[in-house]
Amino acid sequence: MILVTGGAGYIGSHINKELNKQGYETVVIDNLSYGHEDFVKWGALERVDLSNSREIRKVFQNYPIDAVMHFAAFTYVGESVEDPQKYYLNNLRNTLNLLEVMLEFEVKKLVFSSTCATYGDPLEIPITEDHPQNPISPYGRGKFMVEQVLRDYSQAYGLKYASLRYFNAAGADPDGELGESHQPETHLIPLILDAALGRREDIKIFGTDYPTPDGTCIRDYIHVTDLADAHIKALEYLENSGKSEVFNLGNGNGFSVREVIEEARKVTGRKITAVETDRRPGDPPILIGSSKKAREILKWEPKFDDLSQIISTAWEWHKNLKKYE
Ligand SMILES: NC(=O)c1ccc[n+]([C@@H]2O[C@H](COP(=O)([O-])OP(=O)(O)OC[C@H]3O[C@@H](n4cnc5c(N)ncnc54)[C@H](O)[C@@H]3O)[C@@H](O)[C@H]2O)c1
Repeated sequence: MILVTGGAGYIGSHINKELNKQGYETVVIDNLSYGHEDFVKWGALERVDLSNSREIRKVFQNYPIDAVMHFAAFTYVGESVEDPQKYYLNNLRNTLNLLEVMLEFEVKKLVFSSTCATYGDPLEIPITEDHPQNPISPYGRGKFMVEQVLRDYSQAYGLKYASLRYFNAAGADPDGELGESHQPETHLIPLILDAALGRREDIKIFGTDYPTPDGTCIRDYIHVTDLADAHIKALEYLENSGKSEVFNLGNGNGFSVREVIEEARKVTGRKITAVETDRRPGDPPILIGSSKKAREILKWEPKFDDLSQIISTAWEWHKNLKKYE
């Protein structure tokens, strides 16, 4: 049985679905601080906060857990600058709580949600796994610290882990059962779709004078279904005694903010007003990941790698999204 922490959230719920589709049994731990109870349509849900070791232990006592996928975290980079303690306590300390119980119960396989934010400002593009890690926010630093902890635990206690450094997760379940619904929303595609639906007046473009072909920032959008596939492959890799590894998960294609808006206009057929404004501090011009290592070792291949598919799956979900507003 696989324990999925944060399985009521955006990415975790998609992977929980895929695990069940592939015949794995799952139990989700989520405190529903940001997740949605009805995203957990597969497996069991235990409403537990990872700050509570006693409650985590109960879950390990009650379910025969073989491996853990750890998505639970706070995810707002800006908020992490204003309130770093909130991030270090949840993303670092609570991960230590989870690891402590895992070791107690001799559960030694972990797939961890890391992030491209652990790299900081890129020195070269595409970013490979051996690019220096100089995170520039408490969010990125907390994830980086967990990566260090995992390395030490792996050496000392035989923990086997795969740290998956995602670029920008995007899109929605092609069956329309799950999608992205963060509150507040800070991600570009759902914000653009809100503008298409008239739920917000416009979409702001932060900076049009970057050294990129159209002057706007370029990002690597990876479809959540492709992320799900990579997680299953990472788990199989650990089950087949692969050694602990770190993998980038990106689509390898970068898209500029203007390109994303233009594609959203095509997909939705709606008017989307874009307002150009100043750069935001801390936004690197280009973030594109190399996923060569995941392709080679995990035999993973993103299938939803064109922008139109990413936006259309998100749109199908988003236009019906009322109850999470
Ligand atoms: N969305 C992205 O583009 C992106 C990119 C890189 C990395 N990540 C990482 O992927 C993971 C999932 O991100 P997401 O976008 O699905 O976020 P999300 O907020 O939708 O999901 C996180 C889930 O964890 C739960 N949670 C948080 N703290 C908890 C706690 N103490 N105890 C129990 N449950 C708790 C929340 O209720 C939520 O359901 C996070 O670790 C995030 O840092 C996301």
